Amino acid sequence: MKTVYSNIYSFNKKALKKTLKSLNQDSLAGLPTETVYGLAGNAYSRKAVEKIFKFKKRSKKNPLIVHYYNFEDAKNDVIFNKHFFKFYKKLCPGPITFVLKKNKKTKIDNFATAKLNTVAIRFPSNRIIRTILKYLKFPLAMPSANRSSRLSPVSALDVFEEFKKKLKIIIDGGKSRIGIESTVIDLTERPKILRPGIISLNDIKKILKTDLSKKKSSIKAPGMMKKHYYPGIPVIIGKKPENSNHAYIVFGRKFKNNKNYFNLSKKADLKEAAANLYKIMRKIKKKGYKKIFVSKIPNLGPGIAINDRLFRASK
Ligand code: TXA
Ligand code: MG
Repeated sequence: MKTVYSNIYSFNKKALKKTLKSLNQDSLAGLPTETVYGLAGNAYSRKAVEKIFKFKKRSKKNPLIVHYYNFEDAKNDVIFNKHFFKFYKKLCPGPITFVLKKNKKTKIDNFATAKLNTVAIRFPSNRIIRTILKYLKFPLAMPSANRSSRLSPVSALDVFEEFKKKLKIIIDGGKSRIGIESTVIDLTERPKILRPGIISLNDIKKILKTDLSKKKSSIKAPGMMKKHYYPGIPVIIGKKPENSNHAYIVFGRKFKNNKNYFNLSKKADLKEAAANLYKIMRKIKKKGYKKIFVSKIPNLGPGIAINDRLFRASK
């Protein structure tokens, strides 16, 4: 059941039991989802929620996403609306997060939502996290399992690098299939994307059959501060590297196989590029490069989410 490090477990009955026990006792666990790995704790427990903020060194003003097995489990915590059900039918479980108004009956700890009257909820599709959610009697508050403002982890080892042995359980679910965080959409007023992701503006327009709000939403994702996703070395967009101590992130066929070139997708597939983005940035840092240069990446579909993350990483 144990792999390289004693707190990384492959997923089986024994690991499931251990994880459930730990979450039931207000401890945290590093768990896989289809987007990125999460740092999970009981969303109804003040003690667990406080641990999440402390572990991540996260600002108390930045609310957490609450994860459920299905919408029925969320009905006492939020107020659903027609837009929600349209998206739920088409996209859930999957890589999308909905901001909804809080239900007065909610049991979600007030700190988890940074004392807002809204809650961000998500129904992840990854088999492991779904199994865990199915057995729990509470939803999981689960931000990405990284220290605040750093890159999100896309493997169990990435999570280990962030928290080492401080985290008692990390479940190894392999490489995250999608590789960037969920799309966050505000549904409290006219739908508005707060954080771009693999589910793109176009996908969302098709489901709504109307345009999205162009107005600035009165609520923003408080976590979308500009300095975010920092890989630990400077990131420079739209320029070529000056020397071989600099890594070059590229996209598409036309680039050579130089040692310091890292191709997000040789076949110019934006989904593949998103899945490789954080993995490649971590690899570049580990190899000791001093700076990261990034070539142009098409700003459409998943490319919008990739450029958003790169832009923030460059701040
Ligand atoms: O893919 C994901 O969403 C991953 C996996 C683990 O599920 N989770 C994740 O959580 O990315 P986190 O905490 O790293 O990002 C949550 C984002 C932040 O930008 C936060 O400000 C925003 O969601 N958010 C949470 N609650 C909100 C609310 N009530 N209103 C607006 N934005 C909210
Ligand atoms: Mg995060």
